[in-house]
Amino acid sequence: MDILIVTGSISEKSNNKKIARWFDRQYGGQVNLTHFPLASIPMFNEDIEDDPNTEIDAMRRLFDQADGVVMITPEYNHTIPGVLKNMLDWASRGKRALKDKPVFMLGGSTGRFGTIRAQIHLTQILNSPGVAAKLFARQIQVDLVDQKFTPQGECLDPTTEKHLKRGMDEFLASLTL
Ligand SMILES: Cc1cc2nc3c(=O)[nH]c(=O)nc-3n(C[C@H](O)[C@H](O)[C@H](O)COP(=O)(O)O)c2cc1C
Repeated sequence: MDILIVTGSISEKSNNKKIARWFDRQYGGQVNLTHFPLASIPMFNEDIEDDPNTEIDAMRRLFDQADGVVMITPEYNHTIPGVLKNMLDWASRGKRALKDKPVFMLGGSTGRFGTIRAQIHLTQILNSPGVAAKLFARQIQVDLVDQKFTPQGECLDPTTEKHLKRGMDEFLASLTL
């Protein structure tokens, strides 16, 4: 099974990339995991959207090949980061790269409320007619994320790890139905 991991942060020291590495450690032997190259996506601009655009072609191929998408969002100013929204705007155009694609959404923030506010916005975006993804019902918010993962993706909090495993196991099971 091919799973594409989209992490909505382009920072090398990103806490959400630590969560992405947790998926590598836990599920790398079970499914084929690919990490989406978010930093390669140009700024959306209608003036260039019909020009041959290798990054956007590659983006569409990656979504096309994936049986499911794990989308890990940070929370910036109570919403999703601009880099993630920018990619979703591209995905909403033309062949609509995420249309009907199963998406398991989660995220980590250093605050006490996790990414709940960002995930409410991401739900709206994924359900918009242009994006039209198939959002998996279970979502996970990791609060105090900087205290819960090592840079190598080890989870230091058993409760968080239990929720992540349950969510991902249920998501993978939903893809084989
Ligand atoms: C521009 C900016 C805005 C932020 N806004 C929020 C916020 O609204 N809520 C929150 O819980 N954390 C907020 N934070 C803290 C982030 O949760 C924290 O920096 C987190 O590590 C970002 O994810 P990343 O490390 O994967 O990029 C913000 C951080 C930045 C840089």
